[in-house]
Amino acid sequence: MDRILIRGGNKLSGRIHISGAKNAALTLMPCALLTDEPLTLRNLPRLADVDSFGHLLNQLGVSTQIEGARPEDFGRVMTMRAARVTSTMAPYDIVRKMRASILVLGPLLARMGEATVSLPGGCAIGTRPIDLHLKALEAFGAEIEITHGYVKVKAPNGRLPGGRVRFPVVSVGATENALMAAALAKGTCVIENAAREPEIVDLCRCLVAMGARIDGIGTETLTIEGRDRLHGATYAVMPDRIEAGSYACAAAITGGSVDLVGADYDEMGATFDALREAGVTVTHEHGVVRVSATGPLAPLTLSTAPYPGFATDMQAQFMAMLCKAEGASMLTETIFENRYMHVPELARMGADITVTGRSALVRGVPVLTGAPVMATDLRASMSLIIAGLAAEGETQVQRVYHLDRGYERLEEKLAAVGADIERDSDG
Ligand code: UD1
Repeated sequence: MDRILIRGGNKLSGRIHISGAKNAALTLMPCALLTDEPLTLRNLPRLADVDSFGHLLNQLGVSTQIEGARPEDFGRVMTMRAARVTSTMAPYDIVRKMRASILVLGPLLARMGEATVSLPGGCAIGTRPIDLHLKALEAFGAEIEITHGYVKVKAPNGRLPGGRVRFPVVSVGATENALMAAALAKGTCVIENAAREPEIVDLCRCLVAMGARIDGIGTETLTIEGRDRLHGATYAVMPDRIEAGSYACAAAITGGSVDLVGADYDEMGATFDALREAGVTVTHEHGVVRVSATGPLAPLTLSTAPYPGFATDMQAQFMAMLCKAEGASMLTETIFENRYMHVPELARMGADITVTGRSALVRGVPVLTGAPVMATDLRASMSLIIAGLAAEGETQVQRVYHLDRGYERLEEKLAAVGADIERDSDG
């Protein structure tokens, strides 16, 4: 199994190209199911999760074609075509490995009038139920049955009539499924307390490019007037704000300065506010965000929240960075109940972190030391990379497949800005 080896201590300096967003890609790809015409996605990141999602679509009868990507390029162009949907079922084996598979539920229901998807079960960061996804589909007129670990949804007479749902809590995934299901409904669907994440806006824009009618994009109330059919489109995936934020934390912990090329400054307000509060300078000009850390890092008090709040997907990376702050930080995780799996691993590197319930007290330490570590999820793995970049000696990060799910050519990007990092394929 691959591992990543880092010898810490180098200040990062230079330019990092920001890839297309994983979380946007995985909600744009299932849109291909909504039309018999081709959907072409540009700026699709080269990630294991994107490949897995492509395989799931293939199983449903969707053809996928990747165009002319040279190995040295970042990103790819993929054309997907669901001329005929041959299966409406996402099996346990696939959903278990990739939670985002649940996002075929809405589009399959919309296009085919039915879908059967394995219940995803728990994952490393919490229970992650799908009751809100089902609440929305039911409100739009679907009949729902749960048996043998699968959820089966059906539209009466093959098409959802429409309706109104109000989510009790903000859910990104449920908003995505609801939007895709609503796009082909007979009537109008209204989603209240919808997620406002930039990835939701990206999904709305892609659906609109395919002919959908959506009002309120970027607000908490989305009104979708169902269409009889959608058409093909070409759409570019938004830049990955979590990847950009991760490299910003990496630059900050090393006292370095990096230019994040292609990052969308406007979508990263909470991340950049927090970095500035920690004493990091953030500027932007012509599609490039410069993150520079010169002095010591100041401690922070942060609480994760739905967008535009501080993202749960940035919590682990900030925690790693704050291990080197001068003073004690308090991080509170409000989205997931079990998202501190990186804490014991950071402790192996000399971090001083106490978790009480949903909060973590991070006391800054003068020195982190390299160690063999492993992580259980994507962002947790990134936090170990960040700590490793500032640690004395060698850090070996095991279970690199977590990183490959969500960071395009991580070691190459970091090495290009001066990190001493390599992948060991025999580890
Ligand atoms: C969440 C994050 C998203 C992040 C992703 C991967 C939020 C609001 N969402 O999206 O930013 O990119 O994880 O780390 O920050 N919930 C239910 N029932 C449901 C669906 C969700 O109770 O049917 C709860 C979840 O347990 C969680 C909260 O709602 O506490 C938000 O979950 P949701 O946004 O749906 O999760 P993801 O779509 O995975």
